[in-house]
Amino acid sequence: MDSKRPKYLSSFGRRQMRGLRGTQAERMETLLPKIQITLPEEGEVKLPNKPVWLEIGYGAGEHMAGQAKANPNVHYIGCEVFTNGIAAALGHIEKHDLKNVQLFIDDARLLLEKLPDACLERVYILFPDPWPKKKHNKRRIVNEATLEILHRVMKPGARLRLATDDKQYAIWILVKMMEQQTEGRFRWLAESAKDWYPAPKDHLTTRYEAKAIRGQPVFLDFTRV
Ligand SMILES: C[S@@+](CC[C@H](N)C(=O)[O-])C[C@H]1O[C@@H](n2cnc3c(N)ncnc32)[C@H](O)[C@@H]1O
Repeated sequence: MDSKRPKYLSSFGRRQMRGLRGTQAERMETLLPKIQITLPEEGEVKLPNKPVWLEIGYGAGEHMAGQAKANPNVHYIGCEVFTNGIAAALGHIEKHDLKNVQLFIDDARLLLEKLPDACLERVYILFPDPWPKKKHNKRRIVNEATLEILHRVMKPGARLRLATDDKQYAIWILVKMMEQQTEGRFRWLAESAKDWYPAPKDHLTTRYEAKAIRGQPVFLDFTRV
């Protein structure tokens, strides 16, 4: 196999929009190395003895920073590949002097592979890239392979929140998750329509969501059985 070929079909678009300058560039040099997770060649990523929450694709990091600030007892891991987003998130982390956040700056699935079994209490995937064209659907991060590995790394009873403003992606998610429910792996927590719209009380609006680009956002909460 070509060792340079990425292991996963990319679920994200561009990794950089514009070059970083000034304090943003400085934070990438000084703050990022202090809080960045690097993968061990062998064995698992070491985690503190605290509840661990993980967010995949935090964008500019408003939700991650807000949750980490509101939940100081939690160890929060954010995964993002978009350099300008990582730089923005570092700004929030510095501004709020957050000591409970670590960042992984590559494909989240590479980190998931290295996490111990049943280590996560919460996982957020908020407004993942919709990949609306049929030929691109296979790039969607919510797929059988991701759910398989999330099932391994989430504790029984852990929460998974998936949000999207793309109706077709919402249907896609529900189909995938109902398969999981049938197999007894995840269970949808909604009891009525108001449980998936409007946003849950503990949700913090993200930058992408605020633009409501594709339609009405829905919030789909699941528990790992
Ligand atoms: C549409 S944006 C939404 C960002 C943010 N959650 C929000 O609501 O504002 C999706 C983000 O997920 C990131 N992303 C997609 N696949 C990823 C992956 N496999 N690992 C880490 N980040 C990923 C992209 O780089 C992009 O910034």
